[in-house]
Amino acid sequence: MKAKDTIVLGIESSCDDTSAAILKGNRILSNVIAGQSIHEKYGGVVPELASRCHQESIIPVVQQAIEQAGITIADIDAIAFTQGPGLMGSLVVGTSFAKALALSINKPLIPVHHMKAHIMAHFIEDDLIDVPTFPFLCLTVSGGHTQLVNVESPIQMNVIGQTIDDAVGEAFDKAAKMLGLPYPGGPLIDQHAKKGDPIKFTFAKPQIAELNFSFSGVKTSILYFLRDQKAINPNFIEDNLADLCASIQNSLVEILLHKIKKACSTYAFTQVAIAGGVSANSYLRHRLQEWGMLSNTKIFVPKFEYCTDNAAMIAITGKFLFEINQVGNQSSTADPRLIW
Ligand code: KG4
Ligand code: ZN
Repeated sequence: MKAKDTIVLGIESSCDDTSAAILKGNRILSNVIAGQSIHEKYGGVVPELASRCHQESIIPVVQQAIEQAGITIADIDAIAFTQGPGLMGSLVVGTSFAKALALSINKPLIPVHHMKAHIMAHFIEDDLIDVPTFPFLCLTVSGGHTQLVNVESPIQMNVIGQTIDDAVGEAFDKAAKMLGLPYPGGPLIDQHAKKGDPIKFTFAKPQIAELNFSFSGVKTSILYFLRDQKAINPNFIEDNLADLCASIQNSLVEILLHKIKKACSTYAFTQVAIAGGVSANSYLRHRLQEWGMLSNTKIFVPKFEYCTDNAAMIAITGKFLFEINQVGNQSSTADPRLIW
């Protein structure tokens, strides 16, 4: 007789999305995400406001996830939550809620590392999507991280390269801000770029050793280029928005691809995955797939809903940790700088 599939409630609150998901076995039954539009007018996430919004959303979001999954609280076998890294005030809301619920229903509590969870999103079962086999290379690209990870198992993940300054998501958002686009600008650059020429303008290419990245030079080069062009034509940005977006996106994606190729030749990886918010970028996905075909490398891109922050990835990671009894307890605390 087949053992009952484990049901895990996942909770994510590391930044500005409150999310809850129900996982059964390796399949997602529900994944509810409440965004926070309040930050738009400030051009970035305001931590105190994020924390307050999480407080308002956490109970309705969890309730909705349970309802949509068609289960009851009593069916939950374990509760996984994002312990860090992230914003302290935001993490505390999810952590406290998870601890209180675990205590009240007497179920295990599983602290999860947010960035490792982005990678583990690839193991959510879906009829249309293949799952990578260990070991594989994963490029994790979000608003706060840019890393190349040698993923040997769900618990053995080694960072083999990372940014020495800005994260690539931050570079997308800062470039978008220079173009007058609202926060978060990454998805808007992606959209405008579809109608633009990726090689119309060129920006600085960083020369960084080994498998590390740098994005601050590109950012400065975009800033000075726009300043000089606006001195000649005050409408330069409006007149060239699509080409600017396409060219900026191309510069950032080229940096990522260059290091992926280098990692594959150094470590002989035959499978490459991408994870994190920037893995939703259509140009990165396209260029990577194109290179995968040419180089005989198998490429894994997550479903769009599992690219940006979500609780489904927390639930699947929690499930793997639960199986090896790597669980927490009521002493587990939120850790904004949780180590890898
Ligand atoms: O993983 P995520 O949702 O949150 C963090 O853990 O940081 O990543 C958010 C980042 C933001 O910088 C956002 O602009 C970027 O992901 N992003 C994109 C796209 N969608 C989200 N960047 C470029 N193109 C996109 N389509
Ligand atoms: Zn994230």
